[in-house]
Amino acid sequence: MAEKIVLAYSGGLDTSVAITWLKENHGFDVVAVAVSLGGGEDMAEAIERARRNGAVEAYGIDAASEFADEYLARAIKANAVYEDKYPLATALGRPLIVKHLVEQALASNAVAVAHGCTGKGNDQVRFDVGIKTLAPDLRIVAPIREWKMSREEEIDYAAARKIEIKVDKAKVYSIDANIWGCAIEGGNLEDPWNEPDEDIYLMTASVADAPTEPCYAEISFENGLPVALDGRALSLKDIIVDLNEIAGRNGVGRLDMIENRLVGIKSREVYEAPAALTIITAHRALEDLTLEREAARYKRLAEQKYAELVYNGQWFSPLRTALDELFDSLQTKVNGDIRLRFHKGTLAVVGRRSPDSLYQYGLATYDKADTFDHDAAAGFIELWGLPLTEWAKKHKRGERMI
Ligand code: ARG
Repeated sequence: MAEKIVLAYSGGLDTSVAITWLKENHGFDVVAVAVSLGGGEDMAEAIERARRNGAVEAYGIDAASEFADEYLARAIKANAVYEDKYPLATALGRPLIVKHLVEQALASNAVAVAHGCTGKGNDQVRFDVGIKTLAPDLRIVAPIREWKMSREEEIDYAAARKIEIKVDKAKVYSIDANIWGCAIEGGNLEDPWNEPDEDIYLMTASVADAPTEPCYAEISFENGLPVALDGRALSLKDIIVDLNEIAGRNGVGRLDMIENRLVGIKSREVYEAPAALTIITAHRALEDLTLEREAARYKRLAEQKYAELVYNGQWFSPLRTALDELFDSLQTKVNGDIRLRFHKGTLAVVGRRSPDSLYQYGLATYDKADTFDHDAAAGFIELWGLPLTEWAKKHKRGERMI
């Protein structure tokens, strides 16, 4: 009996062709595994097709809730955004897909894992490093990195072997979608001067088509995580799904950026992340109200490192786990409600309240309820400014500095 390989299968052209190619070129029996993170794919159809195309076993796994609870929850606490913009939908999804591939490899007694990543992207790194970390004895095969066929050659290869494929007319863009967002690359986007065509967007309306009336939503947080939307207690996954709809309908959630890939390439990326951007904006607003100043400032530095670890395929790492513990300990007071207004492509935080708010009306107000000790300010400034006033006395000898 042939050795088995578990293939990360999407149902697209590459991974459909890979089922036959892995048999022909490496002698493997292929176990196809499709992991859905809520990207709206038709898994049942793809799984049936994998069987017809010769997979010895084929499984579809719906991991959207697990994605929300085990991965996105952490990303929210960390306000994880890469290069100040990208909320990491694809990057966060890869380690969970890897986890399911490795589990299936053990269950099916497979000796290897295959994925459909090219040799130019970040995803190959996330798959390979993830697999090596979780199961160092599994071999890794990346057919697309090896076979160097063009898209046309793949279609010819499939035709010659009667591989059943579902070729989307003129597939122009490379798209990866899950509940945290969608990444769109390729086609005319490869010229950074080109404005994205309106019809590439899957999750968001254009500003022109967005309703003229503003729309409001209230997110309630406990320990740094959304637990209710407009007063209705919901699972994190359901809150994300609802916010994708609300923000998306109002034209909120588009990004168009040049990003630095781990492999050194600068690439033009268009993203849609309506719920991700909404939740992180709200979460930050609640942290502004509830985190002590130095904790908040230090957290910003750690957040940036966290986003880099996720982006660079280092999810299964001691530093990522340690940073999660840091964030967890800072989230115990991140409780309360954030009110948001969506309007014609804009998102604004318009209200915040928290039982753990550090905002003190008596300290902040300029009216007669003021409790701030104004005399203490003068003494404080005396000491705060001491190093500079002494320096000026010594070296400036009465010269004016301006
Ligand atoms: N540039 C993004 C990332 O590295 C998105 C990658 C999207 N992948 C894709 N196959 N379209 O996370």
